[in-house]
Amino acid sequence: LQESKPTILVSEKLGDAGLQLLRSFGNIECCYDLSKEDLCKKIETCDALIVRSGTKVSREVFEAAKGRLKVVGRAGVGIDNVDLGAATEFGCLVVNAPTANTIAAAEHAIALLTAMARNVAQADASMKAGQWKRNKYIGVSLVGKTVAVMGFGKVGSEVARRAKGLGMHVIAHDPYAPVDRARALAVDLVSFEQAISTADFISLHMPLTPTTLNLFNDDTFAKMKTGVRIINVARGGVIDEDALLRALDSGKVAQAALDVFAQEPPPKESKLLQQENVIVTPHLGASTKEAQEGVAIEIAEAVKGALQGEL
Ligand code: MLT
Repeated sequence: LQESKPTILVSEKLGDAGLQLLRSFGNIECCYDLSKEDLCKKIETCDALIVRSGTKVSREVFEAAKGRLKVVGRAGVGIDNVDLGAATEFGCLVVNAPTANTIAAAEHAIALLTAMARNVAQADASMKAGQWKRNKYIGVSLVGKTVAVMGFGKVGSEVARRAKGLGMHVIAHDPYAPVDRARALAVDLVSFEQAISTADFISLHMPLTPTTLNLFNDDTFAKMKTGVRIINVARGGVIDEDALLRALDSGKVAQAALDVFAQEPPPKESKLLQQENVIVTPHLGASTKEAQEGVAIEIAEAVKGALQGEL
């Protein structure tokens, strides 16, 4: 008797190489932009689900799966959009792709850091609107400035390596920091308070967990240097966005560069989108051709392993 192939639902765009690998052992259904209701309907007939950050895999999804769903694959690192408690309860494995987009995320953080410091986005918009404002867009230099890398994991340490190359003084905070990695990169590991109070630039690289939710709030902004600049390519939820707006208005925070938002996409009327001193990108940290192909293969292999009981 031939064993039937597992059905794998792919709910967000996945690189071709990953799809090809999935097709070698499963029936693939690519359905993008599903509503919550449609996802719940569809999931009943699926053995695996592959998502990026745009699909919320909530308890309702696991309930709707009625025990058939064996694995959720997160094509990326952060698994904060998957209800892990519900997954465990329903006996469903959750796997991610922890390495393939590290460099892409680090490069995007550096792109935002340099673009913010030199007002690239604002100057571009102004010139395209017919203006030529050389005095308005005087920036700040990076060399000799202190950047605090908050979260010294894979992405954070690659950001640190690149910031060193720009001549910046790099400090880092991470409660679980690998000391040997910091030593190898000549990065000073410091306390949370020391990091936020001495940095000219603060770059966020921590996961969203109950501990990091709204970690950057009125209290923490108050402890920062006046004129600090913040980059967030991690998760929107680690910043209390109303507190950030207050800190931008008061001048405590001079500029922010945000790739991620508490709600994605953020509401069109969000004040953050209207601030001249804030630059934004639509969660592009992992979005390079190379990273997406790598992530697709990494997650396809992990899902295959989980379905075939290799995990
Ligand atoms: C990640 O957690 O790796 C990123 O958010 C990936 C993505 O863009 O989906």
